Amino acid sequence: MIRLKDVEMEYDNGTKAIRGINLTIEDGEFVFLVGPSGSGKSTIIKLLTGEIEPTVGRIMINGFSANNISERQIPLMRRTIGVIFQDFRLIEKKTVYDNLAFVMRAVGVGPKEIHKRIPYVLQLVGLLDKSGRHPTELSGGEQQRVAIARALVNNPSTIIADEPTGNLDPDRSLELMNLLVKINKLGTTVVVVTHEKDLVDRFGKRVVTIDSGHVINDSVGGYVGGRIHGQA
Ligand SMILES: Nc1ncnc2c1ncn2[C@@H]1O[C@H](COP(=O)(O)OP(=O)(O)O)[C@@H](O)[C@H]1O
Ligand SMILES: [Mg+2]
Repeated sequence: MIRLKDVEMEYDNGTKAIRGINLTIEDGEFVFLVGPSGSGKSTIIKLLTGEIEPTVGRIMINGFSANNISERQIPLMRRTIGVIFQDFRLIEKKTVYDNLAFVMRAVGVGPKEIHKRIPYVLQLVGLLDKSGRHPTELSGGEQQRVAIARALVNNPSTIIADEPTGNLDPDRSLELMNLLVKINKLGTTVVVVTHEKDLVDRFGKRVVTIDSGHVINDSVGGYVGGRIHGQA
């Protein structure tokens, strides 16, 4: 479970990006986080991944308290979350397989488990046959699926994606969302930041709308003509 309680975030330059957010995401949920540019969506993601700490309020992530967390616990907390970035952030000099093996070794997984896990995850994202390729030899959609595989490879309980469809055409975007839904059905909590209203509409999932650092709507449904519908 993820919980933000009365969270505020003010950056060093005085920008108040988050102005008092309360939000709970239960295990197994699929949540879209939407809102205009600059509304605070990426700040929320950075708070959830522990990249930044809130100025005010408490954050609980999968049993860990992100406030007063010990140095020793930080990697354990991070291991419960897989992050997918818009710009993929793959290592170009490594093959697909080695990009995945790298993040497994980084958390101390042994070779046997690595050898077993990677084919499973690559098959899940439909890239088993691309295991030996380098990222530059893949299309944008394929690279994004490698990024998803990498986020999944350490079996996190939560997947968080910040604008994962930003660099993809509409068909690839839909495929990617379908893949995230499939991953969610296999038991992983999924949080997706997106500005793609059409996509959000199609899925009928929980939509949390952020504006000026506040949650202004939290409902099941999507947008209609730029406005949110559905029950609170
Ligand atoms: N590192 C930072 N330092 C100062 N201000 C920032 C920083 N990152 C984001 N902001 C500001 O915080 C606000 C929210 O930004 P962000 O969370 O990136 O919004 P979104 O992802 O919804 O576009 C914006 O006003 C942005 O300019
Ligand atoms: Mg952003």
